[in-house]
Amino acid sequence: MSKKVLAIYFSQSGQLGEIIDNITAPLAGPGITIEKVRVQPATPYPFPWKGNSFFAVMPDCVLSVPTALAPFQLKENKYDLVILGYQAWFLSPSIPFNSILSEPTVKTVLKDTPVVMVTGARNMWITAFEKSKVKLKEIGAKLAGNIALVDKHANFVSFVTIFYWMLKGKKGRALNIFPKPGVSDEDIAGAREFGVVVAQHLNSGKWEDLQPALVAKKAVEIKYRLMFIESKASRIFSIWANIIVKKKNRSFWLSLFKYYLIIALFVAAPIILTVDAIFFKPFLLKKIRARKQYLLGVN
Ligand SMILES: Cc1cc2nc3c(=O)[nH]c(=O)nc-3n(C[C@H](O)[C@H](O)[C@H](O)COP(=O)(O)O)c2cc1C
Repeated sequence: MSKKVLAIYFSQSGQLGEIIDNITAPLAGPGITIEKVRVQPATPYPFPWKGNSFFAVMPDCVLSVPTALAPFQLKENKYDLVILGYQAWFLSPSIPFNSILSEPTVKTVLKDTPVVMVTGARNMWITAFEKSKVKLKEIGAKLAGNIALVDKHANFVSFVTIFYWMLKGKKGRALNIFPKPGVSDEDIAGAREFGVVVAQHLNSGKWEDLQPALVAKKAVEIKYRLMFIESKASRIFSIWANIIVKKKNRSFWLSLFKYYLIIALFVAAPIILTVDAIFFKPFLLKKIRARKQYLLGVN
């Protein structure tokens, strides 16, 4: 019997779209239909962004406030696999992705259906993934796989280059000194290999074996320093978001948040990481290993 696969996602620059195209390519073949839906918000977010509009979405991202989407239709009401493309915005599921998960038609097709999550992030996708996992559980989806492509440059380098990309609208090299932002062309092309693994499991139906097979291919990797910074930052972002939504002069508070972010990344993070490396990490190795193992999985 023919199998049906839905790949649904939002992508502002097209990067996530390219990743999804490469992952779905090996799935295509006789007896498999692939439907790709690139969802758009009813009111598009600016691209390139302006500094203010970029930070203005922070509270709604962190507090999971959905937005209206432009109408879209799914051809089927049941699929054998749903590939969900998502991106992290401010360490949370992006507003458009969160809105996709809030759509009744999407919820219907997700229920009792194997799901593979795919992201093309800067380098901090863990909280967005964890928050999405909670939503998928509520919906009754069967999360089977996680593929996380990231910018592999140093954290401060990708911080600079992503701003260049987002504020210029072009995935080019800042000042001709910095590397190209985002997920590398090689890694985007290499995502095909993960598609081969997903195709094998779609054919066998052994979804419980998918994530270990993806991890063996390095479809997802956990770096301690990034995991550590993200876990601290996500809690602090949540405090900021809850404060900012209550303020009348939001733009003032958002610019405070912007300066906080710069100081946190370039000043506080290196100090906290050094203190952690000396006083805490050596005594927590077992706990850290267990956390990494958990984050490599989908349960
Ligand atoms: C408002 C905003 C906030 C972002 N925050 C994060 C983040 O917290 N962590 C991260 O890894 N990437 C972050 N990114 C990068 C995105 O996850 C993504 O890699 C980039 O926007 C390209 O995705 P696209 O396919 O939608 O164009 C952010 C991007 C935007 C626009």
